[in-house]
Amino acid sequence: MTLTAKSVARVTLVSALLTAVAGAAVIGASPASGAASTLGAAAQQSGRYFGTAVAANKLGDSTYTGILNREFDMVTAENEMKMDATEPNQGQFSYGNADRIVNQARNQGKRVRGHALAWHSQQPGWMQNMSGSSLRNAMLNHVTQVASYYRGKIYAWDVVNEAFADGSSGGRRDSNLQRTGNDWIEAAFRAARAADSGAKLCYNDYNTDNWSHAKTQGVYRMVQDFKSRGVPIDCVGFQAHFNSGNPVPSNYHTTLQNFAALGVDVQITELDIEGSGSSQAQQYQGVTQACLSVARCTGITVWGIRDSDSWRASGTPLLFDGGGNKKAAYTSVLNVLNSGTNPGPTSTTTTTTTSSNPGGGGCTATYSEGEKWSDRFNGNVTVTGTDNWIVTVTVSSPQRIIATWNTSATWDSANVMTARPNGNGNTFGFTISHGGNWNWPSVSCRVG
Ligand code: G3I
Repeated sequence: MTLTAKSVARVTLVSALLTAVAGAAVIGASPASGAASTLGAAAQQSGRYFGTAVAANKLGDSTYTGILNREFDMVTAENEMKMDATEPNQGQFSYGNADRIVNQARNQGKRVRGHALAWHSQQPGWMQNMSGSSLRNAMLNHVTQVASYYRGKIYAWDVVNEAFADGSSGGRRDSNLQRTGNDWIEAAFRAARAADSGAKLCYNDYNTDNWSHAKTQGVYRMVQDFKSRGVPIDCVGFQAHFNSGNPVPSNYHTTLQNFAALGVDVQITELDIEGSGSSQAQQYQGVTQACLSVARCTGITVWGIRDSDSWRASGTPLLFDGGGNKKAAYTSVLNVLNSGTNPGPTSTTTTTTTSSNPGGGGCTATYSEGEKWSDRFNGNVTVTGTDNWIVTVTVSSPQRIIATWNTSATWDSANVMTARPNGNGNTFGFTISHGGNWNWPSVSCRVG
């Protein structure tokens, strides 16, 4: 189903915080028994990842690597894959520190996000004063060489980083790369796709969290344009560096959902939130919940492990204190990740079976409750008996289905949806805007 900005459920972070998950006491609570006890394992329960930025020069610190190996299943090199690190002299590539991070991660069974192929900042000296076609070619060669070197080892690349201007313009940031022509971003994406067709290709930026900000709208229009013209973009990264001057916006869910509705994954790529105690924990909880509530939000990465590892350590913005101890923010994130898949106290299933296969046989569609919020709830349907199913989902007024995943959906009326397989298995899901009506939908199955 295609969502428009208007049709997307608008939820405030406050309501998401207040109603995060039925029955889950999130702040400061211990994980429920049976729940996962690490961030990575907890995120995996809903098919997501939980990552961190890693610095190569800290891999010898046993407290650091102990937490890294235990808690995280995705890794981003904090600085070691940037242009100045990987191509210090033109045409001479240097991968030593980046390889240490990639190898450490892969040896531990973790995946890697690549950061970043093209950026106005952290350029090597030789590139900083280049311009015109020589700069364009140097940038494209860099993208090609680095993405090719790591082909097959990168889950997602930040192909272009921070190319939009802050403030009210909603336009591009001025830079030497921008001055090579407005098409430099799509040229970088095409080069990255040609070099590594298996990696997801992301545009990554900061201050794009608030849906009403001009910068957010500018990036949205670019992604919309890229999708309409077939420019190879798979994901949008939201850096998510928050503090009191730039707090988590109340419309964060809306932002993530609206980008996802363009047909891209969304990822929270550099999360840190300055503060402490329950206030910080609540904000982390809200960000985590916002990601969990968007089917195409595939994972969260925090920008460092301990507060002392942070690029802004004085703001104590991370999940572990300087001694490596778990903070309240850690517990709040872990509990939200766990509650994303735990059955709530009222969770049960309902089943309707229909057979329309003349040769016999039939199928069973089983509905199960998902997450619940003040204005909407998720449901999942698992089909058994056939891979060739047609499931009818009927909601009752004023309910509306506002999002679907893992299915190809068509609409018989505003209240009746027909769901078919889309190659993602036999479990699909949807979000219902309930309008005060909490009744479950009815589901029926027939063989296609
Ligand atoms: O390693 C050298 C050290 O040898 C030297 O003595 C010292 C003196 O300045 O510098 C050290 O390098 C610093 C490096 O971090 C490692 O600590 C660089 O100066 C410093 O500029 C660099 O800062 C990084 C910054 O990106 C550069 O733009 C931060 O670690 C890194 O966390 C930060 O990450 C960025 C993302 O890439 C993009 N989004 C924003 C985010 C935060 O700024």
